[in-house]
Amino acid sequence: MDQLIVTLDGPAGSGKSSVARFLAKRLGLEFLDTGAMYRGLTAKALHRGINPATESHAVIELARNTPMRFDWNEDPPRLYVGKLDVTDRIRDRDVTGSTSEVACLAAVRQVLVETQRRIGKEHPKLVTEGRDQGSVVFPQANVKFFLDATPTIRAKRRVLQLQEAGKRADLEQIRRDIIERDRRDSTRKEGPLICPDDAIRVDTSGMNREQVISHLENLVREKMNIP
Ligand code: DC
Repeated sequence: MDQLIVTLDGPAGSGKSSVARFLAKRLGLEFLDTGAMYRGLTAKALHRGINPATESHAVIELARNTPMRFDWNEDPPRLYVGKLDVTDRIRDRDVTGSTSEVACLAAVRQVLVETQRRIGKEHPKLVTEGRDQGSVVFPQANVKFFLDATPTIRAKRRVLQLQEAGKRADLEQIRRDIIERDRRDSTRKEGPLICPDDAIRVDTSGMNREQVISHLENLVREKMNIP
């Protein structure tokens, strides 16, 4: 098989990131975290003193002129925007908050979609995770998933994730942030969060991470005839 692209789309906190990473390992595929790319560009903009809410031209300019690359030798891969290693910044609350402003910009999306397609050519055995991977970036993907869960469950998962990283977290605040982010992500014109018609929708609310990973792994093996 020359190409095996599995897309995982869904809202914030649906469990996609960790599920995608482990699913890739189980299937022997590489893993692309496209949310990290939008976050990384935002971290770089903030580092430069650019305010994404008011200086969209500067953000677009930055996206067009700054190469972005993952160091795949590290696990998880480290992300560089230009020479800046943004890996440890991208989950901070200020970056998270500004990322949806950046992700709304059509010109930024064009640049990152192109970069993601190039990565797909260089790494054609890939689990890729985001909002528009099955709908826009890889419409030809072999298997498409759309993961979802209730806002409360998703907020609880984010709190755990932050706590594991040694960061403080306020559940109610995060729940509100998630609902606001969903609204922005699903109403933007370019690459909105939608479930493609040919995607398999999985509600992960009542499932733990291991159950979700096994479920998706079985579905991919079945569909692709992988023993
Ligand atoms: O999945 P995440 O929480 O890391 O995503 C961060 C932000 O980037 C979120 O606001 C949605 C946006 N995003 C996007 O618009 N398109 C993608 N392919 C991935 C993420």
